[in-house]
Amino acid sequence: MSLLVRAAGFLLVSGLGLLAVAGCGTDSSSPSPDEQDTEQVTFDEPFRPQFHYTPRQHWMNDPNGLVYHDGTYHLFHQYNPEGNTWGHMSWNHATADDLVHWQHQGVAIPEEGNEMIFSGSAVVDENNTAGFGTGNGPAPMVAIYTSHYTISDDSINQAQSLAYSTDGGETWTKYEGNPVLDHPDPDFRDPNVFWYAPGEKWIMTIALPTQHKVQLYESTNLKDWSLMSEFGPAGGTGGIWECPALFQVPVEGTDRRQWVLQVDLNPGSIAGGSGGQYFLGSFDGTTFTPREGELERAPRWVDYGPDFYAVIPWNNVPESDGRALWLAWMNNWEYGESIPTSPWRSAQTIPRSVHVRTIDGTPRLVQRPVEELQQLRETPVQLQERTIGPGSTSLADDGISGRALEIVAEFEPRDAETVGLAVREGETERTIVGYDAETDSVFVDRRNSGTVDFHESFASRDAAPISTRDGRVRLHVFVDRSSVEVFANDGARVLTHRIFPRPQSDGVSLFAEGGSAQLVRLDAWSLRSIWANR
Ligand code: FRU
Repeated sequence: MSLLVRAAGFLLVSGLGLLAVAGCGTDSSSPSPDEQDTEQVTFDEPFRPQFHYTPRQHWMNDPNGLVYHDGTYHLFHQYNPEGNTWGHMSWNHATADDLVHWQHQGVAIPEEGNEMIFSGSAVVDENNTAGFGTGNGPAPMVAIYTSHYTISDDSINQAQSLAYSTDGGETWTKYEGNPVLDHPDPDFRDPNVFWYAPGEKWIMTIALPTQHKVQLYESTNLKDWSLMSEFGPAGGTGGIWECPALFQVPVEGTDRRQWVLQVDLNPGSIAGGSGGQYFLGSFDGTTFTPREGELERAPRWVDYGPDFYAVIPWNNVPESDGRALWLAWMNNWEYGESIPTSPWRSAQTIPRSVHVRTIDGTPRLVQRPVEELQQLRETPVQLQERTIGPGSTSLADDGISGRALEIVAEFEPRDAETVGLAVREGETERTIVGYDAETDSVFVDRRNSGTVDFHESFASRDAAPISTRDGRVRLHVFVDRSSVEVFANDGARVLTHRIFPRPQSDGVSLFAEGGSAQLVRLDAWSLRSIWANR
């Protein structure tokens, strides 16, 4: 395969638009394009998420460099400082001390010349292994990212580079010895690095996207890397592999932690287009080995909705916290550049904690919303047992409606074929979140959710298998202005969807079809905006 074909393959499969974006020289005397709002930014635009991170304006994709340092959660992300579609990739930066109230910090690592700054990770170099530390001040932070070089109109190369900050993440300097790691395959990207204490070394997972491989490298100084092992092809290989991450997650009900390798697939994921798969296994400091039977069960999907991609975990979360935390790009490469929002495009999911739980005898990755989000809850509304259906009942009289909501509802399906909630409901539109008894699955139906015609594949009904062993289904639902995230049975299955309803569609109702069902209990909260005080 020639360089051209592989580069074109990347272009085609990744859906990233034209790769040969001309480099932009930055003129330091005038404000950068990012500092000038192209339109009025209110954070109250009709589709503007109220408790999900979005940039003020312009295009965003993957989360990058998620790292905790000195009481602050850092969130970097793929960003086009110049426009509302993919291009001029740079790392934009935001921080929060509570994983909820994000402060925009501006572009941290900009595109320069023929080099775009693609996805990667960030670490805190406590022991100053790379030598970027100054001896005083906070421990250096080091970003490890992919330099995407445009060589000519039809050839590119990708190699790994470093940038560092010695002031706690405020300012970043590209390392003069960049790049630090190259490969003969020009498609070689998305380094995810963590400190492996038992071996006193850094470990990097990185994708060879068109080969469906993850490579594992080691280093003692972040600058010199050697290949240790490879994983793949395995599981879903219907598209390219991107953004791998190897990390440990707590096993529920035990003190143990389980190694997980998450790898993204684009396209070919469960809900169409881009999505994430995972493998549970062991890691001996050199090689990731999947659990027995794991490959036969593959692909195992992280999220059954279409809008969950490029997830990476937070590095350096204190041991006293003990959680494995992550968030993902809440969009899909299939239609992501056409979603009807302006002057920004894309959001990140809510932060989630990741766990392993044994369900029906098989350990499985589960996700839960982080507890920190509970601070956004307004006065609770609680409904007790009632019969639902057949048919649908608005909850307006119970005081439940809105465009930014958290709802926890428990159902007994009884003789109903489907039971659940409609959210963001108006006269002619609604998003349905329910349980389907015939297929024993939870589903989200956004076919009639509002504006769906901007792309032919957007209107969808997506389902995840679930087993209702005790005859009950619990749905934990987060509704924001343009999204619905569903955590079913305490995160055993998760579905993430973007929706674009009219502002006046703020109704919530309960429904049962084909029979009647029982509501066991429902708790609902309006959620406060994280942008309220800006
Ligand atoms: C995933 C991805 C990465 C790449 C980045 C470029 O969405 O394609 O593989 O580094 O986006 O923006």
